[in-house]
Amino acid sequence: MKVMKRKILAGTAVICASSLLCASPMHAATPSPLMPTLVNQDGRFALNVDGAPYFILGAQANNSSNYPNMLPMVWPAIKDMGANTLVMPVAWEQIEPTENTFDFSFVDTLLDQARQNNVRVGLLWFGTWKNTGPNYTPAWVKLNNKRFPRVQKQDGTMLPILSAASSVTREADKKAYVALLTHLKKVDPQHTVIMVQVENEPGVYGSSRDFSPAAEALFQEQVPEALLKKMGRTPGTWSAVFGADADEYFQAWSTAAYADDIAKAGKAVLPLPTYMNAALRHTFKKEAPGTYASGGPTYNVIDIYKATAPNIDFVAPDIYSPESLIYEANLDHYARPDNPLFVGEMGNAPVYAHYLYSVIGHGGIGFDPFGMDYTGFTNFPLGGDPKTFGPEEMKPFATVYKAFAPMQRLFAKAIADGRAWGVSEGDDHGPANLTLNNQWTAKVEYRLWPFGGQAWTTQLGAGFPEGSETARGGVAIAQIDDKTFYVIGQHARLTFGTAANGASMLMDRVEEGHFDAKGNWVFDRVQNGDQTDFGLNFTEKPVVFKVRLGIIER
Ligand code: DGJ
Repeated sequence: MKVMKRKILAGTAVICASSLLCASPMHAATPSPLMPTLVNQDGRFALNVDGAPYFILGAQANNSSNYPNMLPMVWPAIKDMGANTLVMPVAWEQIEPTENTFDFSFVDTLLDQARQNNVRVGLLWFGTWKNTGPNYTPAWVKLNNKRFPRVQKQDGTMLPILSAASSVTREADKKAYVALLTHLKKVDPQHTVIMVQVENEPGVYGSSRDFSPAAEALFQEQVPEALLKKMGRTPGTWSAVFGADADEYFQAWSTAAYADDIAKAGKAVLPLPTYMNAALRHTFKKEAPGTYASGGPTYNVIDIYKATAPNIDFVAPDIYSPESLIYEANLDHYARPDNPLFVGEMGNAPVYAHYLYSVIGHGGIGFDPFGMDYTGFTNFPLGGDPKTFGPEEMKPFATVYKAFAPMQRLFAKAIADGRAWGVSEGDDHGPANLTLNNQWTAKVEYRLWPFGGQAWTTQLGAGFPEGSETARGGVAIAQIDDKTFYVIGQHARLTFGTAANGASMLMDRVEEGHFDAKGNWVFDRVQNGDQTDFGLNFTEKPVVFKVRLGIIER
């Protein structure tokens, strides 16, 4: 048996000498709830919550929903959507309105209500940077430029952005963040909070880097050794080593180092999985740093974050482009053996829902559409239409979340073990061909009726299924044993094949069923005949199959 290399990235691991010891509460002291942990298993990841892999079916609230009076407009949306995790900001201005005086009342209310709603929480630390700006810092920070200096452009003009080169700002932010985690440690022994994001979309707009005197002095220094090693470069100053990229790389290093210092101090108190999110640089067009958030964790500087910020467990893309080529390219960029894929934000328009299948296919740990509350605001045109946003708009997300909810842990484990696959329909509606392992393949097609071949659509005049001109399909597969798979999907057809040369195969048994609340498979019927003659067929409502494949003996 292959021995898995398991690396705990955050939190503590609980190791069971035998399943008996673990399963027997009678012989153990009252088990303390387990710290959420991120485990790297040969470059694949599990986010363990309550000791087992957990897939975040997330919902991020709007920016200003972080007050107790807003929560009654948040929970109904979370319920309609079927999210298992609410991602919510906590603002520095809110917890430390006066220096050294802390107020955690919102956090307490949020956690109480999350527990009542049986939902876990991810906290977003809106500190020094929120979309690069200082607006969420307390007045005593954002109005005091002498004590908390700003980024300067090359011509000396000042930008509103707080400078990453200021240790005074960093220490003040760190003190507030550590106070937050210290409070969490006290009030959240059950770990309702499963992860924290440090800062929000940092970087610099309007300049390739910070040219303030403190930043300039650092820029003239030698590039740190860890970075040289990671990037395979020889020693020198930033300009000498990185040439045209020096400004952006310097800004990335300085932002990563700043956030890492804060994350490290927080983890010393409560080692929750910790991440940062990225305002994306365009995936295909080459743009000048500063027209996008220069120095934030864009895909081109992930290596710099990895070399500089060991306490940031992952960097996450905020994807506000529904086009499949762009969405998928971003998944490719952020799903790395050293970076668990978590879509930190995305639009809440219906089209985004079907990408959940592809996030699973990329080995992701979660999915987190933005603006999922009924406070009456939407970030249109990035997200849904404010006039109509409500339960109806939740439906595409709700449909897929409710189907995955009872099997999210099964999928999370299969992803970590390398036994899961998933694809989402692209805008070109083209088929996807998957190689599942050495033995089996799967072809996924779209825009077909559940009965009949591709040609029927044209020859029999049936046309395409209604609504299929917009990509909305997807399929996810988890392997159970050599020849058995769970398959779930929507608006797609899946045809299994064999990867073995010259062999013939068939679907030996196709069970349609569902999982109960405890995660046990419940058999509903066997599908055969018209239902499976043309493969496994999925329409609007996700269906779960347990499929046993067989090779026909010669
Ligand atoms: C990305 C940010 O991270 C969010 O907080 C929000 O401002 C969206 N952009 C836009 O709605």
